[in-house]
Amino acid sequence: MSAILSPSILSADFANLERDIRLVEKAGADWLHIDVMDGHFVPNITIGVPVIKSIRKITNLVLDVHLMIENPEKFIEPFVKAGADLITFHYEAAEKPEEIISLIHSAGVKAGISIKPATKPESIYPYLKDVDLVLVMTVEPGFGGQSFIHECASKIPLIKEHAPAGLIIQVDGGINNITSKICTSLGANSLVAGSYIFKAEDIEAACQSLLH
Ligand code: DX5
Ligand code: ZN
Repeated sequence: MSAILSPSILSADFANLERDIRLVEKAGADWLHIDVMDGHFVPNITIGVPVIKSIRKITNLVLDVHLMIENPEKFIEPFVKAGADLITFHYEAAEKPEEIISLIHSAGVKAGISIKPATKPESIYPYLKDVDLVLVMTVEPGFGGQSFIHECASKIPLIKEHAPAGLIIQVDGGINNITSKICTSLGANSLVAGSYIFKAEDIEAACQSLLH
């Protein structure tokens, strides 16, 4: 089975967002990865609730919302109301990860926990039984278009070894037709890709190269 592909709209053409979403839908993507940054947890600001609300109106893709923000617990409800299907927060931004996970679940959506490149996989072992997804960052969060950090991929088999059956292991950052294979062979089953897809001349072909 091929990995779940979640194109990151961070590298899409925001003036033609619907067109770009249609192209990844047509290519067979199941999810859409939406990067929310607050200028505090990461040194960049991206999009928020109103944009997600608008995207929700035009697509049935699973909206995979990656929160790179401080105090994620304060924003679960608005993002769920806007139409998120899955909310991933950062372990490094959470004082009590277990409380955030139950907040997300009580709001009726799936919960993911993410770790930055310097964070050890052991830090999240206690939460693997409670989350639906683990997001292993393979670049420093904050910007699209960076190069894949190979050492981060070695966390994948460790997490897989400690994970209950059915946990989704997602990778994000520097994913292309080569690094995707490295990650899936190590046990990742969801791929986020931004610039490789949306900066490609042929967006559909780029998606398909990750799906097969
Ligand atoms: C980075 C974001 C990514 C970003 C990936 O902080 O979490 O989702 O869009 O971009 P690429 O695929 O270009 O590395
Ligand atoms: Zn992301």
